[in-house]
Amino acid sequence: MTLCDVKARANKGGDMDPFELLKADHRKVEELFTELESASGKQKLQVFGQIKTELELHTHIEEKVFYPALEEPEETHDLTLEAYEEHAVVKDLLKKLGRARTANDEWEAQAKVLQENVEHHVEEEENELFPKAEATLGEEELEELGDRMEAEKARKQRGASSKKSAKKSASKTKSASTAQKRTRTSKKTSKSSGSKKSGSKKSTSKKR
Ligand SMILES: [Fe+2]
Repeated sequence: MTLCDVKARANKGGDMDPFELLKADHRKVEELFTELESASGKQKLQVFGQIKTELELHTHIEEKVFYPALEEPEETHDLTLEAYEEHAVVKDLLKKLGRARTANDEWEAQAKVLQENVEHHVEEEENELFPKAEATLGEEELEELGDRMEAEKARKQRGASSKKSAKKSASKTKSASTAQKRTRTSKKTSKSSGSKKSGSKKSTSKKR
C-alpha cells in the first residue's frame, strides 16, 4: 500500500490500520535519507530539517498512542521499552544535528549514525514489534489505535503550521504596535503640554 492509498483510506473516514500508517512514515523517512545522501551544502540542512520534522511527529504519535498500549502485554513489553530507548537516542541525535549551521564532516558522521539508528529501529518494529502487536491486540483495539494516531498527527501538524503563521503575524504586529505607540506618545505630549498652558493661565488668573 502506498502513502496515497493510506491517505485515500483515511479520507474515506475508514478505520486506519496502525501498521500501514506507521510504515508509510517509515518509507517517507527512508526516501528523505536517500535524498540527504545526494544533497550538498545548504540543501543538506534543508533535507535534514524535513527528516527532523517527520521523525519528531512519528515518535510523538508512537509514544503518545501506540507504545502505551503495547507496554502492558507481556508479549510486547520488552520490545516496547527498548523502542522507547531507541527513540531517546534518535531524538538526542536530532537535537545535536539541528543545532549545526553547516554540514561539516562531524555533522555527516552524526547524520550517518542517526540513519543507522533509525534503520535498525524501523527493522525491529516492522519485523518484531508489529507482528507481535497484531497477534496480541484485538482488531478493534488496533483500529482504534490507528484512528487515534492519525488524529494526533493531524492535530500536531495543525499546531505546527499555526505556530509558524503566529510567528509571522507576531513580527508584523510588533512593528505595527511600535508605530501605534509612537503616535500615542506624540499625542500625549501635545495633550500634556496643552494642559500645562491652561494650568498656568488658571493660576495666573487666581492670583489676580
Ligand atoms: Fe518508532
